[in-house]
Order: sequence, then C-alpha cells, then structure tokens
Amino acid sequence: MEVFQVFFDSIIFILPLWFGNASPTILGGGAPIDGGKYWRDGRRILGDGKTIRGFWAGTLVGGIVGMLIAIILPIFSIDLEYITLLDKGLFYSIASNLNLSFLYTNQTVFGFLLGAIQTFGGLIGDVIGSFIKRRSGVERGQTFIFLDQLGFLILGMGFIYILIPWPITWFLVLVPITFLMHIIANLIGYFTGIQDVPL
Ligand code: CTP
Ligand code: MG
Repeated sequence: MEVFQVFFDSIIFILPLWFGNASPTILGGGAPIDGGKYWRDGRRILGDGKTIRGFWAGTLVGGIVGMLIAIILPIFSIDLEYITLLDKGLFYSIASNLNLSFLYTNQTVFGFLLGAIQTFGGLIGDVIGSFIKRRSGVERGQTFIFLDQLGFLILGMGFIYILIPWPITWFLVLVPITFLMHIIANLIGYFTGIQDVPL
C-alpha cells in the first residue's frame, strides 16, 4: 500500500513533465533555437530538432496538464500529495514574503505553475542534452542512451525542487519509470508514424 502510494504520488507529480516533454514532437517545428548556427567543431550548436515553438509549446502543455490534474483529481476526492510539501519549499517563503500568495493558495494556478516550471526545466535539460550530443558527434535524431531518456527528468526535477522539495523516494521511483515510459512512448511514436526513429 505504502509503495503503491509513492508510485501514485510521484507519477501524478511528474505527469505534466512527461506530456510537456513529449509534445514538441507534434507541436514543434519552425525556427531552430540555435538560429542555424555552428559551433567551432563544425557541427550545429543544437541542431534542427530543438525549435523555439517546440520549447514554448511544450512548456505551455506542461502547464495545462498540471492545471488539469489540479482540477480533476479533487473532483474524485483524490489528494494532491505534492501540496503537503509546498510550505517546505523556497518558493513558498519567497511568494508569501512578496505578498504573492495567490500563486499557491489557488490550486489551479499552482498546478499550472508546477507543470510549466517542471517542463521548462525539462526542456532546458533537453536542449543541454542536444548540445552534449552534437559535441559528442551524435547526429540530430540519433539516440544517446540515458541522456535522451533521463536528462529532461533530472533538470525538470531540479527546477521544480524550489516549488516542491520532493522526497528522494519519488526520484528513485521516477528514474526507472521515466526511462521505460520514454522508450515505450518513442516506440508508439515510431509505429504510428509520428517520428522516424524507434528510439
Ligand atoms: N522538438 C522541437 N523543439 C524542441 C524539442 C523537440 O521542435 N525544443 C521536436 C523536433 O521536431 C524533434 C522532435 O520534437 O525532432 C523530437 O524531439 P527530440 O527527440 O528531443 O529531438 P531530436 O530530433 O532527436 O534531436 P536531438 O538529437 O537534438 O535530441
Ligand atoms: Mg530524439
């Protein structure tokens, strides 16, 4: 029961990041973040797989998913466990000092913020990942195992720690699950024709 609860709470917490990070595959495109520029090694800084639209659309999707979770779960009388950790975070003390308490007293607003910030962090991780891949000579779209599946999770969890100081058990649960979910989502994307590579 206890183990199930940790799984459930941590997945509810990270769901916006999963959706937000996956959404650029469908919503992305257009101008690349690196402006088409090259690094001194002769390779692209990031490559055409990291676009401005994908970045911001993904962040927005993360926010919307976070907001929907914060609206829907209470309808079914399911508690948002992460809320119990809010007042232990840095964000809470800063926002209350600045009289910005509406940012956390309204669960819907906070849900949006939670989803948007964790996805923003995750997509920063995704950009850093592409930078590392290009510097390592890995072409755009080619898999870099672990970096592709976990880079966004680590940065997303890092950014959101300021809002919700999550317990280490959540992280330990989310690393293997996110790794598997990322691979499964990519395989589904490949077989449904959304993306060209299986991983
Ligand atoms: N995408 C985007 N903007 C982003 C991130 C992703 O438009 N900021 C889109 C791109 O069309 C990209 C697809 O989502 O091809 C899949 O994302 P990802 O696997 O992260 O990019 P890759 O194409 O594999 O490029 P890289 O090797 O640099 O990770
Ligand atoms: Mg990829």
